[in-house]
Amino acid sequence: MTCDHPIEHLVTVRSSRRLNSQTTVLTLEAPLIAATAAPGQFVNLSCDHFLRRPIGIMAVLRHEGLVELGIRVVGDGTRELAQKRPGDQLSVLGPLGHGFRLEGLQRVITVGGGSGVFPLFFVQQVCRERGIDALAVCGYRSIDESILRDEYAGLGCQTLFAADAGDLDVAGHAADALKQLLCQLPPVPQTAVLTCGPRPMMQAVAALARDYQLPCQVSLEERMACGIGVCLVCACQVREADGATGYQRCCVDGPVFDAEVVVW
Ligand SMILES: Cc1cc2nc3c(=O)[nH]c(=O)nc-3n(C[C@H](O)[C@H](O)[C@H](O)COP(=O)(O)OP(=O)(O)OC[C@H]3O[C@@H](n4cnc5c(N)ncnc54)[C@H](O)[C@@H]3O)c2cc1C
Ligand code: FES
Repeated sequence: MTCDHPIEHLVTVRSSRRLNSQTTVLTLEAPLIAATAAPGQFVNLSCDHFLRRPIGIMAVLRHEGLVELGIRVVGDGTRELAQKRPGDQLSVLGPLGHGFRLEGLQRVITVGGGSGVFPLFFVQQVCRERGIDALAVCGYRSIDESILRDEYAGLGCQTLFAADAGDLDVAGHAADALKQLLCQLPPVPQTAVLTCGPRPMMQAVAALARDYQLPCQVSLEERMACGIGVCLVCACQVREADGATGYQRCCVDGPVFDAEVVVW
């Protein structure tokens, strides 16, 4: 059901699935979003607190018109959203922003840290649909904080799980696991690294991709308000074509950018 704004939808929560004490997956009945969303795009969700909250799209079930969102509780807004129950209604703006570019790629390596594994799951889903060879690296603090491990395994892609605590496949950060993977992988033309997660992790991933001469796309999580390019709250520093630094709006020019243009 749509409201007067073309991208504002009043949607119903179909189900809520608790992954651990901090994270929940919400499934929304949102056929218009499910029909058009691309991986890396996000929605802006209303809540009872000031401003909407931006959340990346984790997966879509296009035929059923369902959209899944992974929510990690960090403050009042995400706490309220994670407590939504089947039948609750939400105002949702979306799908918003520019997602990951998969056109022409033969192989994709996704590198997610913490809640960054949510939007990259959608990338993996679409790679599978399009027959793109896809590998995944997922980094967490510890096995207790790990999320979506069964879901990634269920996609059938080769996945390396890393934990700072040393209790998963690789001890260390997602970038450490990516290094291990890149050392072993035979080169394939048109390979790209796609990353989402804490900024220092993405910076390390981008540097590593550069060392291996692989293009890298990063999904930035700037603070946002409107989510539709009007308020400029989400301005992020980028390198322009002439080498000068400038600003772009993360919500409409991103949130996915080529790593080479990001001013870290
Ligand atoms: C494009 C994008 C995609 C995202 N995808 C996900 C996702 O898939 N899963 C997930 O759990 N989280 C995601 N986030 C982060 C999520 O938006 C914030 O955790 C959330 O807005 C925090 O709101 P809060 O009220 O709980 O926290 P508070 O800290 O109380 O929020 C106060 C204000 O700051 C803003 N804010 C705080 N942290 C962030 C942040 N990291 N990014 C943007 N705005 C922030 C809030 O929107 C709110 O306006 C994403 C952020 C962006 C920009
Ligand atoms: S959040 Fe308002 S311009 Fe980007």
